[in-house]
Amino acid sequence: MALITLRQLLDHAAENDYGVPAFNINNMEQGLAIMTAARKCDAPVILQASRGARSYAGDIMLRHMVQALVEMHPDIPICMHQDHGNNEATCLSAIRHGFTSVMMDGSLLADMKTPASYDYNVDITRRVTEAAHAVGASVEGELGILGSLETGEAGEEDGSGAVGKLSHDQLLTDPDQAVDFVSRTGCDALAIACGTSHGAYKFTRKPDGEILAMSTIAAIHEKLPDTHLVMHGSSSVPQYLQDLINASGGAMPQTYGVPVEEIERGIRMGVRKVNIDTDCRMAMTGQFRKVAQDDPAQFDPRKFLVPAMQELEALCLDRFQRFGTAGHAAAIKVISMDEMAARYLGGALSPVNAAAKAA
Ligand code: G3H
Ligand code: 13P
Ligand code: ZN
Repeated sequence: MALITLRQLLDHAAENDYGVPAFNINNMEQGLAIMTAARKCDAPVILQASRGARSYAGDIMLRHMVQALVEMHPDIPICMHQDHGNNEATCLSAIRHGFTSVMMDGSLLADMKTPASYDYNVDITRRVTEAAHAVGASVEGELGILGSLETGEAGEEDGSGAVGKLSHDQLLTDPDQAVDFVSRTGCDALAIACGTSHGAYKFTRKPDGEILAMSTIAAIHEKLPDTHLVMHGSSSVPQYLQDLINASGGAMPQTYGVPVEEIERGIRMGVRKVNIDTDCRMAMTGQFRKVAQDDPAQFDPRKFLVPAMQELEALCLDRFQRFGTAGHAAAIKVISMDEMAARYLGGALSPVNAAAKAA
């Protein structure tokens, strides 16, 4: 099976009321573990590479790795997505390297630190969307800035995050502006800000509505019922993985992530793509630490990597099942990028009926 576009996959998810986890990938072992989980439960997959992942593995390695995963799992549709593209060059070079989808994150300037103006965001997202759609690739835009409603900060370990203190206006996507943004940019999916942030240290307590604003998602979905919403910073930072790391010599301070049941609620309110990286890192690192502690004489990397892959596989399987992704891969007939391009050109994939709904 060929790679699938994000637009086709999320259209299928919306028609069938499920969400799709988007797992970050940097290396072969992550790819193998995610795909084994997907095959076990017949789930379509979104693999995403950050700019950091692209420079870590290299575009050529990533492209061939993903192609190998496609060949190994011909029955599983795989979307290859650029996570947090910072400008046109990042997004268009990803497409040139075989990605079927890109995120143009214009909520921040290209330095990925300075909050951008609304006009800048609309302009750059619209330009990337026009170029991507011309070759059939999909685009995720972002409106609102990720960061903590408790501290007003983006979070220290944030791979791409605003510096300084952010106001609640910046940290919560405005539903009316979201309507305008989607209709002016033509993006296929919209990442929203609702109090989540990247990394392990999202909340100092189990989040309630004050610090995890699920009501913002509800309000956006009300105005944009046909737009595919994306939740970033959606690792749950499970207690069992914090405990695994800390029982094996780690020193992670107690922290809280996004409870899986809140994500399930989000999926019922139009969230179709759920970004997860930190949980995957914790799963693998927890096992690295455990092997190192249990067997200090061990020096074969495979003895570390096999349990790490198993821990990651179990996590991915759980998310595929709980998000309702499981069981849908076989029903999807992949549409080629050329055909997607023709559909965009012919207006058959015009963006979401944002304007109509708003009127
Ligand atoms: O965007 C955030 C992801 O966790 C990617 O992180 O840039 O360290 O690969 P990274
Ligand atoms: P986490 O750090 O919560 O896994 O978020 C990942 C993410 O949003 C990648 O874009
Ligand atoms: Zn993100």
